[in-house]
Amino acid sequence: VPEHFRQMVEAHELLRKFYHHLLMNTDEGQHALEYLTNRGFSKESIEKFQIGYALPNWEFASSLLQKRGFTPVQMEKAGLIIKRERDETYFDRFRNRIMFPIFDHQGNTIAFSGRALGDDEPKYLNSPETPIFNKSKILYHFNQARSAIRKQHHVVLFEGFADVIAADRAGIENGVATMGTSLTAEHISVLKKNAQTITICYDSDNAGIEAANRAAAMLDEAGCIVKVANMPNGLDPDDYIQQYGEEKFRTDVIGSSLTHMAFKMLYYRRRKNLQNEGDRLQYIEEVLEEISRLDKAVEKDFYLRQLANEFSLSLEALKQQVSQTTKSTP
Ligand code: CTP
Ligand code: MN
Ligand code: MN
Ligand code: MN
Ligand code: MN
Repeated sequence: VPEHFRQMVEAHELLRKFYHHLLMNTDEGQHALEYLTNRGFSKESIEKFQIGYALPNWEFASSLLQKRGFTPVQMEKAGLIIKRERDETYFDRFRNRIMFPIFDHQGNTIAFSGRALGDDEPKYLNSPETPIFNKSKILYHFNQARSAIRKQHHVVLFEGFADVIAADRAGIENGVATMGTSLTAEHISVLKKNAQTITICYDSDNAGIEAANRAAAMLDEAGCIVKVANMPNGLDPDDYIQQYGEEKFRTDVIGSSLTHMAFKMLYYRRRKNLQNEGDRLQYIEEVLEEISRLDKAVEKDFYLRQLANEFSLSLEALKQQVSQTTKSTP
C-alpha cells in the first residue's frame, strides 16, 4: 500500500473518531444525537456504525488535519477539504451533517457520507471519488456483514444507509447498500463470491421499483438466485420498520420475498387495469415473453398454468405462443 494511501486512510480514521466523539459526548452534538434518536437509531447502532457529527465550522477538519501533520494538498485529494480560489486556504467539505463513515471491505475508513439534519440540499453529501474510494466497487456495510452473508449464503441489498442500519437492528445482519449509485458489475462480482441468493430490498417508490427491476435483471444474468422483498406502498425499509416494527419486517418483508418471476409479474401489472381488455392482453404478452426466456421446462409449465388459470385461457394456446416466441428470439 503506497504511503500516501495510508495517510489518507489515517486522516479518515482520525476524523471518524472525532465526529463520533462530537456526536456522543458534546453539547454541540446534542441536537444531532436527538435527530438520530427521534429517527429510531439506537445507541448500539450508532456505536456499531460509528456514526458521528460534523460541526457547522468551516475549518474544523482543515485545521485539525494540518495540526496533525497531514498536508492540505493530499487532504484535498482525499476529498476531506476544499481549496478556496481567492486566497488558496482550505475549508471543510462536511459541515453540520450527520456523518456516516464508509469502510472498505477490509474495514478501513475510506470516505464519508454526511446527511443534512433538516431539508438542506443535498440530503446526502458524499466523498468524491478518490485514490482510496471507488464507489462502483464499495458496498456499504459489506465488511461487517461478510460473515453473516457467508453463513447464510444470502445477502440483502438495500438503497441506503438508514435502511441497512434499521435492518441490522431488526436482526437482518447480512445487509449491504450501494450508495446512491446503481449496481455495477464489480458490486455483483463481490456479492456472487459470497452468496448464492440475493434479496433486493429497495424503496417501494417508483425510482426504487425501477432500480430493483434493473438490478434483478443484472443479478439474474450473472447467475444469482434473485428475490425481491415485498414492501408495500411507497415505503422504504427504514420507514417500514418504524411503522410496523422489526418482527413484521423480518417475516412479512424479507421472509415473504417474491421470486424474480413473481416480482416481474407485479412489475408488469403496475399502471394497468386488468379489467380493461387491452391492458389485459398486453400483460399476458409481457408475461409470456418472460416465460419464454426461462431455462427450465418445469418453471415454464408452472407459470403457464398460473397464467392460464388466472385469465381462463387454454394452456395449449399459451404453450403454442411461448414456443413461437422462443423461436423468434435468438
Ligand atoms: N443518496 C445520495 N445522495 C443524495 C440522495 C441519496 O448519495 N442526495 C444515496 C444515499 O446513500 C441514500 C440512498 O441514496 O441512503 C437512498 O436515497 P433515499 O432513498 O433518497 O434516502 P434514504 O436512504 O431514504 O435517506 P433518509 O432515510 O435519511 O431520508
Ligand atoms: Mn463510541
Ligand atoms: Mn430512495
Ligand atoms: Mn429511502
Ligand atoms: Mn429513508
